[in-house]
Amino acid sequence: KTTFNNISHLINERLSRRIVNLLRLIGFFGNEMNSPVYVVGGFVRDLILNIENYDIDIVVEGNGIEFAKYMAQQLNAIVVPYEKFFTANVIFKDGFKIDVATARTEYYESPGELPQVDISTIKKDLYRRDFTINAMAIKLNPQDFGTLYDFFNCQKDLEEGVIRVLHNLSFVEDPTRMIRAVRFEQRYGFKMENYTLDLLKKNLSERYLERVSGSRIRQEIEKILEEKNPIKAIKRMAELDMIKHIFPKTYYTATMEEKFVRLFKFIPYLKERFENFNDFYAVSTIFLEYYDKSTLEEMRAKYGYPKKFIETLKFTENIIIPVKSLIENRYPFSDIYKVCGKSNPYIYSHISAYLDEDEQNYLLSYIDTVLNTRIEKVTGKYLMERYQLKAGPILNNILEELFCLKLDNSNLSEEIAIESIVKKHIEKIEDSSKL
Ligand code: CTP
Repeated sequence: KTTFNNISHLINERLSRRIVNLLRLIGFFGNEMNSPVYVVGGFVRDLILNIENYDIDIVVEGNGIEFAKYMAQQLNAIVVPYEKFFTANVIFKDGFKIDVATARTEYYESPGELPQVDISTIKKDLYRRDFTINAMAIKLNPQDFGTLYDFFNCQKDLEEGVIRVLHNLSFVEDPTRMIRAVRFEQRYGFKMENYTLDLLKKNLSERYLERVSGSRIRQEIEKILEEKNPIKAIKRMAELDMIKHIFPKTYYTATMEEKFVRLFKFIPYLKERFENFNDFYAVSTIFLEYYDKSTLEEMRAKYGYPKKFIETLKFTENIIIPVKSLIENRYPFSDIYKVCGKSNPYIYSHISAYLDEDEQNYLLSYIDTVLNTRIEKVTGKYLMERYQLKAGPILNNILEELFCLKLDNSNLSEEIAIESIVKKHIEKIEDSSKL
């Protein structure tokens, strides 16, 4: 295969009219600005693989920000520049977004830090990228429209399903690429090439991943969790011994894997029921299970978990075995509620990792019942007026007891049920005042 091939037929056959027209326009603007322009990276990769991808990354040999401003003006869009990085976003009225960058080489003052940037040409720009499969560009200027720029035999790697770094400092310059390598491997069913694999293992054991900020690691893990089959990537990370460089006290075992399998089966149901359900927190409950207090505190600082989340995790660890046995034996919902209390979604996700399918169904109907059960008629005020009870914790206890009865019997008449609950509580008070 040669370095320059015209693949405009792929553009015309595989992309929508709108995208083709947009790419052609961008090429025209390139001529008007006297700059070579390219679409690069994942978009090119997925075009060749014939996979849909709407993330258009444009690279300009020239001034990327000026180019983006011109383009936005011509297309009636908004431009958001990032002067420091010579990049800009062009955002259309309907929200569609294009990233524009200036061709650049990056050099790294120290590993894991944001790169210093130098203006450069497309070849150097492509060379600084993570893997060969992501290091191709397609020229958009009219006279060369559709010419694929493949300096590093990228197409061959794409055809053969190989993940390969472009140079031996790739993982040192950006250690999160070790996680990306696993993600691309699993997404496309590709394999890391041997030398790349050796580099990864070496840089991993030299603890380069530990130099990266928690938020960047977290972002990469979150990208894995957005993939179709995150379990495969987690498994692969475990196989490469990567997990302990992310969660230092985690020992990945077959049992842990089983928990993940069950958890991932249950997550979609939780997403239907809880807004903003966070997959990273959900998998974290498994990775962080039975951690000691001080390491947990380190993890909280690193990955930014809320304090509340860590408290939930500790709480769940203590109730999970008893709750599992209540569910196994199909105890009434009120008994589960008495142990779990007003739960948050991460208690449920954590418990789900311990349950088989039938048990998960039981947990789900428990969750739905708790979410849909409301006390409608009886209130604190009602209790005070009708039974001359004083304000205080006793009112809450009575209402909770009513709630539990209602969990087990949705047709319950509140007014009738409350009679005996109140009677019992009053007797209790009288008994204790006799003592
Ligand atoms: N890139 C890189 N090193 C990184 C992240 C990104 O070299 N650590 C480059 C790659 O060339 C990549 C491009 O920047 O193609 C865009 O990155 P991103 O949007 O994160 O990835 P995509 O390749 O587009 O993958 P995805 O399909 O997951 O969006």
